[in-house]
Amino acid sequence: MLKAKIASRRAVVGVLGLGYVGLPLASAFVEAGFPVLGFDTDPQKIDQLARGEQYLRHLGAAMTERMRDSGRFEATGDFGRLGEADAILICVPTPLGEFKEPDLSFIERSGEAILKTLRPGQLIVLESTTYPGTTRDFLRPILERGGLVMGVDFLLAFSPEREDPGRKDFDTKTIPKLVGGTCEASGDAAHALYAAAVKQAVRVSSAEVAESAKLLENIFRSINIALVNELKVILDAMNIDVWEVIDAASTKPFGFMRFTPGPGLGGHCIPIDPFYLTWVARRAGHATKFIELAGEINTRMPHYVVERSMLALNSAGKAVRGSNVLILGLAYKPDVDDVRESPAIELIELFEELGARVRYSDPHVPVPPKMREHDLGHHESIDLTPAALAGFDLVVVATDHRRFDWDMIAAHAKLVVDTRNALASRMGGRANYTKA
Ligand SMILES: NC(=O)c1ccc[n+]([C@@H]2O[C@H](COP(=O)([O-])OP(=O)(O)OC[C@H]3O[C@@H](n4cnc5c(N)ncnc54)[C@H](O)[C@@H]3O)[C@@H](O)[C@H]2O)c1
Repeated sequence: MLKAKIASRRAVVGVLGLGYVGLPLASAFVEAGFPVLGFDTDPQKIDQLARGEQYLRHLGAAMTERMRDSGRFEATGDFGRLGEADAILICVPTPLGEFKEPDLSFIERSGEAILKTLRPGQLIVLESTTYPGTTRDFLRPILERGGLVMGVDFLLAFSPEREDPGRKDFDTKTIPKLVGGTCEASGDAAHALYAAAVKQAVRVSSAEVAESAKLLENIFRSINIALVNELKVILDAMNIDVWEVIDAASTKPFGFMRFTPGPGLGGHCIPIDPFYLTWVARRAGHATKFIELAGEINTRMPHYVVERSMLALNSAGKAVRGSNVLILGLAYKPDVDDVRESPAIELIELFEELGARVRYSDPHVPVPPKMREHDLGHHESIDLTPAALAGFDLVVVATDHRRFDWDMIAAHAKLVVDTRNALASRMGGRANYTKA
């Protein structure tokens, strides 16, 4: 029944949470010809989508205009309409709590909302990154509270999101989609659904395999980033350029994968997801030593950048206290406006604690969004001009956005600490240039 509806594109797809993951996913299903109902708790997003407006700039304005013009997309805050969807894809946040424990409250609330209108035949798919077992042991019992039974009345699967905002060579439709069910029928139905909207849907044997695969991918990144970050500190002390070392190693055509160092980890995934596994492993009596060590190294990086900055200022006869410091880039990675967990924020806070007067410039983030853990309310992005640059005692490159005018920065900054190797070709070898 559901499979026939999928094949004929009559299945209504509900997407719960229209953020970095949910919005492009909803768009992929609209483009594949499905009627899509988007749900979000943020009324502003609903209003913007009704007008065809884009709030995630890296996805481009044309996406939301196409969604509106298709006549197949509607965004709503009315969760009573969840029953209209044949398949519901959950794309809500999975942050960490104060003690790095999984915060599944968004999934819980989503499950409770779905439960109110859950009906036989519906397929529920969790997409939010989480620890293995969440779909079966956490979400399933919530959905079964009303008496309907998974595998008999409704279907339940996990399909991890591999979205990489800002990436140009792959998008939601071309990144292979892993799918694992909590039972055979659930896996079948979820696989059929995604196969209708993305280029390749890869079926795995269970939801737990799909959940674990996602964590493996992000742990792999976190550990390899930590490795090059640690090497950077060691090689810096030996006066060896880690960037040249990485370029050299990258000439090996097999057995090596390039990772680059930076000022720390950012984004909603890499700094957070590995600790979902740590938590569930601890519950089972196991330690996740690689994850902890990588976390330790990566978390220390902003402090290392500040130490290198102190030395750079010192060699220019200045203390951090009272210096004017400019942070280039607030987003956690190039060419996006996402500042979640961005190490640039920590840099601002560390420099301010030391008594520096700090400003930032980021063409993608004119004003910092409201954040739970940080208050950057007194900041806004400054325009980069030769005069503005010359007014700072120190410029710290935190993010190498393509929109920065690197020639102008190299020509007018008095002192530069570069965490991204962005100015090496222009400033390398100059006394006022430090890589960190
Ligand atoms: N951002 C990424 O690049 C990325 C990549 C892969 C996986 N993920 C995972 O995807 C999940 C979602 O991340 P995101 O980056 O899209 O988050 P996001 O904050 O951009 O979007 C989440 C959306 O959910 C909405 N929301 C919150 N509670 C809700 C509720 N109860 N019902 C309906 N909507 C609700 C929010 O208003 C927001 O619009 C997380 O588990 C994350 O780890 C993210």
